Amino acid sequence: MQRIAIVDPTESTRESLRTLLLGVDFVWLEAECARYEYFFEVIQASMPDLAIVALDANKEKALQMIGQLSVEHPNLPILTISHDHQALLQSLQKGAKYFLTHPVGLEDMLAALRRSLGEHGSSNDIQVGGNTSARQTGASSMIAVLGSRGGVGTTTLAVNLGATLAADPANAAALIDLDLSLGDADIALEVNGFENISIADLARNIERLDMNFLRRAMAKHEGSGLAILRHPLEIAEAGLVHEQHVERVLNLLKISYTHLVLDLSKSLLPTDLMALRMADVILLVAQLELASLRNVVRLVHCLSGEENLAEKVRVVINRQGADSVEEGISLKKAEEVIGKPIFWQVPNDTKSVIGARVAGHPLVKFAPKSRVQQSIQGLVQALYGKPVTAAADAKTGKGWGLFGKR
Ligand SMILES: Nc1ncnc2c1ncn2[C@@H]1O[C@H](COP(=O)(O)OP(=O)(O)OP(=O)(O)O)[C@@H](O)[C@H]1O
Ligand SMILES: [Mg+2]
Repeated sequence: MQRIAIVDPTESTRESLRTLLLGVDFVWLEAECARYEYFFEVIQASMPDLAIVALDANKEKALQMIGQLSVEHPNLPILTISHDHQALLQSLQKGAKYFLTHPVGLEDMLAALRRSLGEHGSSNDIQVGGNTSARQTGASSMIAVLGSRGGVGTTTLAVNLGATLAADPANAAALIDLDLSLGDADIALEVNGFENISIADLARNIERLDMNFLRRAMAKHEGSGLAILRHPLEIAEAGLVHEQHVERVLNLLKISYTHLVLDLSKSLLPTDLMALRMADVILLVAQLELASLRNVVRLVHCLSGEENLAEKVRVVINRQGADSVEEGISLKKAEEVIGKPIFWQVPNDTKSVIGARVAGHPLVKFAPKSRVQQSIQGLVQALYGKPVTAAADAKTGKGWGLFGKR
């Protein structure tokens, strides 16, 4: 946790600055000062890791104080904020190291804080939500899960992949339900006692979105630790969520979570496409039957129209071994049809999957020893390049690592 002192004689802008900083987990607002002339003493008393000076109330006084501060405390990084570019430039000449132009948005503030605190030897301490900031370590990864037709197991896979990732204490994982109209990830992952904030509420407040609000929107499943951002509560609200909203929300979530799993709609909406673009890998879920496999071909063809999308696709066969869906299509035949290797197979296991869904718990909690959970465990290991130990009848993932050993 990094300690910050701020000075801003103008109450309204000081309050906005305070609210902005309160939304950032890795900083602590150690001291707040309303007079430039007292700030020097405040710094002496609090010895913060960073000083933030808003210049606009009285530029002359502010610049003079910065000059004094940088002489007396040469190691204290100073970040200045102003409407006035000239004043910002002068503050740099007086010894400030960083500046932000007013009005300051959360993302700009986060970038500036990360830079200023990181460059001063404290970046390893940065914690977000109890975990080392994902972006700080560069480890955040995004998995989009896309279905090749309705009911193929997209949500089942997304929820259980997310929960399996969340089970590793080194991870902070979140599931984002981007099936905006008909999403049901919150049925498979029942969360209680949280506010009903959905992605539509985030979209409505996108200009004022801060980490506090975002955190309140992320309901956590107690047993597994997986956080979930819900689909809009009303179907009519789905249209409120645009691709830019998805981009912004995912970028902010990447700061707090090491793994984001995205449950997509089957409509290839602009919001889905944004998620596909941002994802590191796209798991395309299919079953060994004609309609589903034909859609895999169509989807891969469609995605190849845009650079870098088709390359990220990994085909996962779900409900492998189910009589009802097999239609006698072998794995080899399926690979021939889709012209791509099958990356993973998840066995059919109705008892465990339905039981977990009814209980509102992921498999890792409900049936950790089940074949289907073991297979999902293997899928995670295959994706992240760790040795496969538990995927009894799934294809081994050796040599298929996407992100390398972590
Ligand atoms: N491996 C599996 N074994 C047995 N049943 C499964 C398996 N995977 C999914 N199912 C069942 O298939 C049904 C559809 O699954 P799910 O809701 O995950 O699919 P979906 O692709 O998200 O559907 P939608 O098109 O509604 O979004 C559910 O009843 C689920 O319990
Ligand atoms: Mg679904």
